[in-house]
Amino acid sequence: MRVESHPVLGKLEEAPMVTITVDGKELKARKGEMILAALLANGIIVNRYTRKRHEPRGLFCGIGQCTDCMMTVNGIPNVRTCITPVEDGMKIEVQDGLGVWRDEN
Ligand code: FES
Repeated sequence: MRVESHPVLGKLEEAPMVTITVDGKELKARKGEMILAALLANGIIVNRYTRKRHEPRGLFCGIGQCTDCMMTVNGIPNVRTCITPVEDGMKIEVQDGLGVWRDEN
């Protein structure tokens, strides 16, 4: 679910929809919204699992100051998804531990 109307900002402009892939599953997202917002709108709340205890982590600060929303994006681990905008065709993966660099080309 997305905010479409805000009491202060009024009706929010609708951006075009793009397609992203999350753990192999195609999802729709609004171009330019933060990855984390797109995932929440699609019901995905776990972004990574901790290295030592394999505990799930998700939205915490929402402003790029912690590490709880880090995911692997287009083969690059540790991307803070709460401050990274969606782009068409992005490949996003729930990250396990420190993540692994992968060449997506
Ligand atoms: S939720 Fe804290 S950096 Fe993204």
